[in-house]
This record gives sequence, structure tokens and C-alpha cells, in this order.
Amino acid sequence: MAQIIDGKAISQAVKDRVGKEVAELNEKRITPGLAVIIVGADPASLVYVGSKKRACSALGMYSEEHSLPENVSQEELLALVECLNNRSDINGILCQLPLPKHLDEKSVINAISPEKDVDAFHPANVGRIMIGDYDFLPCTPAGIMEMLVASNIDVSGKHCVVIGRSNIVGKPMAMLMLHKNATVTICHSKTKNLSEICRQADILVAAVGRARFVTADMVKPGAVVIDVGMNRPDGILCGDVDFDEVSKVCSSITPVPGGVGPMTIAMLMQNTLTAAKRQNGIV
Ligand code: GUN
Repeated sequence: MAQIIDGKAISQAVKDRVGKEVAELNEKRITPGLAVIIVGADPASLVYVGSKKRACSALGMYSEEHSLPENVSQEELLALVECLNNRSDINGILCQLPLPKHLDEKSVINAISPEKDVDAFHPANVGRIMIGDYDFLPCTPAGIMEMLVASNIDVSGKHCVVIGRSNIVGKPMAMLMLHKNATVTICHSKTKNLSEICRQADILVAAVGRARFVTADMVKPGAVVIDVGMNRPDGILCGDVDFDEVSKVCSSITPVPGGVGPMTIAMLMQNTLTAAKRQNGIV
């Protein structure tokens, strides 16, 4: 049986670290502030936004939620972003994705001030990640790197295979692993011989969005398996990895729930702290 990488415990350690720094800022009368924009009432998005707000208040940060109706116009949404960009009590702005189809996600991301872009989705921040000179790292890939470090898993020289090429997870994940000297392969829906490539992975990251997509025959014995999936095929949360079978083959694995999910929120808190420090002239 594989070692279970405990995202709850590791994320708590990150939050404890962030909370200590927030307390120091509070003594200087600085309260990091996060604004979360949510459009419509997608149940999964509502759950994520609730968790983000609770994490802020537990760490002594200010947060506010802007809940906009499903049919909000692009102009109204951009006007809100502009207003939040100009407020000094708001250090971080996050617009929960995906947005309803009639809205242009790209122009909303572009409208968020790069200094307040705690998701690191703005092209300026994405570009900085490419060259390895960044303030913010995208929360999910950053959380995965943090988990690997906390579990004493060194990626240097390893073959890391990332399944999924999204801007939120797959692409930045590959880049962060590359920065740490991994040899990285990105697989996607058009990849030929997917199972064969996955079987070559020392570290396999599944960010596909399909329940139990990674089966035991796709995993090299002794590999590390990171499951980014959040699927609810029968209303029950499960990952992209067939946990019961894969955990018999691999050396370490992240569970769902209790794996990558809590890390994402902890890294968002870290980014909000970094934003507040930068905006107040603290390194
Ligand atoms: N939707 C799913 N994951 C994320 C995330 O990390 N940030 C935002 N803004 N939306 C998401």
C-alpha cells in the first residue's frame, strides 16, 4: 500500500506559516484583503468560494465576495474589476472560473491588475512564470510542488508526466517541474500511446477532469501519483485516478478529497499575503 500524501496536514502547515506573517502585518495595521468574484450559482464554484472566504478569516485576512447574477454583462463585470483594482484595501482579486458562455474570460483575466492577480492567470504573470521570475505562482501547481517538497520527493532528473494542458494546471505544472530540473512530458486528448507514456513516469500528475481515468496498468510500480481531479460522477467526489487500484502499485499518492484541493486554497492565502506585502512596500 502506497504512502498517502496528506494534503490537509501539509496545507495546514502552509496556512500556519502564512497566518504568522499575517499577524505581523496586522501589528503594522495592514490587513491583507481578497476580493472573490463569482458569477452565477455553479454548485462546485460556490463550494470553492466558501472555502476561500473561510480560509481568509481563519488567517486574519479580510475577504469580500461579489456574487453576480448569471446574466451579468461583460461591461458590468469589467467595471467591478476596475473598481477593485483601484481599492487600496483589496490586495488580491480572484474571479472564479469558469464564467458563463456569454462572458469573455480572457478579457476579464487581462483586466485584473497583475499586482493583484493572486491566481497568476494574467499574461504578465504567466510570462514571468515562463522565465522563472515571479511573485505569484498558480495555486494548484504551486500547491503540488509544496506537497512534493514536504514529502521529500525530489523532482530533479525525474521523468514527470502531466496529463492535461490547461492554463490553470497542466501548462504551469509542467513549467514549475521543469524549473526544478525534471524532464517533463505533457499529454492530452490527442496524445498517442497515452498509457505507455504514463507508465514511463516517475511522477504522474493527473489533471484530466475525468473520473478514475488513470488505472493501475498506466502506472509504473513505485511511481508518485498526484491526483488533481474533482469529479462527481454519481454525486460523490472522486479524482482522476482509480485510487483503490493505483495505490496498490505506486509508492505515494494524493487522495481525493484531502489531497491537492486543500493545498490550492493554502497557496491562494500565500499569494494574497505576498500581494499585500508587495503593495505595502515590504519585500
Ligand atoms: N476554477 C477552478 N480552479 C480555479 C482557480 O484556481 N482559480 C479560479 N479563479 N477559478 C478556478
